[in-house]
Amino acid sequence: TLPILRTVEDLRSQVAAWRREGLTVALVPTMGALHDGHLGLIRRGRELADRVVASVFVNPTQFAPHEDFDRYPRDEGGDAAKLASAGCHVLYAPTVRAMYPQGFATAISVGGPAEGLCGTFRPQMFGGVALVVTKLFLQALPDVAVFGEKDYQQLMVIRRFTRDLDIPVRVEGLPTVREADGLAMSSRNAYLSADERARAPELNRALTAAAAALAAGAEADGALTGIRGRIAEAGFGTIDYVELRDAETLEPVSAVTRPARLLAAAWMGKARLIDNVPVIPA
Ligand code: PAJ
Repeated sequence: TLPILRTVEDLRSQVAAWRREGLTVALVPTMGALHDGHLGLIRRGRELADRVVASVFVNPTQFAPHEDFDRYPRDEGGDAAKLASAGCHVLYAPTVRAMYPQGFATAISVGGPAEGLCGTFRPQMFGGVALVVTKLFLQALPDVAVFGEKDYQQLMVIRRFTRDLDIPVRVEGLPTVREADGLAMSSRNAYLSADERARAPELNRALTAAAAALAAGAEADGALTGIRGRIAEAGFGTIDYVELRDAETLEPVSAVTRPARLLAAAWMGKARLIDNVPVIPA
């Protein structure tokens, strides 16, 4: 069965023992309620390093008070079983108190790729992600860490602060793992009713169709308006954003002359769904 570590001390001594044997280490940070997307990160970690540590920590500092921290799905037993079957070596699952002890008073401010998109609608999120991921990096000191393109802006923010703060960890991205009908796997899909679940794949279909049109030279404003129309028609409620950005800097672009990314966030019932697709100029 999978060893579960609760403290930084235990994590550090496990990693130190591996280091003494000359083994390399991959870290896969998660918030649990694991699905095949997360397990893809574990398998990628196994290709990139000798040992894989997964962390499961629902990080309070990246949720605003009105958001779903309290009802975020939690299933440590199920997560541990899935991690073991995917070849993970150790689960690191610290308590909130261990991560943020009494008197904790430090924050990280992120700009650049954190601006706009989810940064506008969840202003606390990327600072909280930067804080917890920096802590996890410094606690585990892995050779490499693996994140999903499902959260593309998050991946770009993590690459940016890792470079800016000279953290000696290689950051690897994994393409989004999807259900058979194209819906991006997400722990938050559990919030969808059966009817909403049936409508949700239209987000990916609209993005994919628009990406093909943009790559073939379609004009951006029309393509973005087309996506909004399609997903509203499919039953999405509030559309937080639909945007075309540079694939690397995440700066807004109005024409596809180099690799770009189409990104969207929209509400289906109680679930805020995000998705993104690459746009490669022809
Ligand atoms: P969480 O939403 O649990 O996601 C953990 C990791 O799994 C992230 O890197 C995310 O991009 C990746 N992931 C989720 N769904 C995926 C999918 N369908 N395909 C590929 N990868 C997928 O993202 C977080 O947690 C947190 O913000 C965290 C980075 C752990 C910091 O608290």
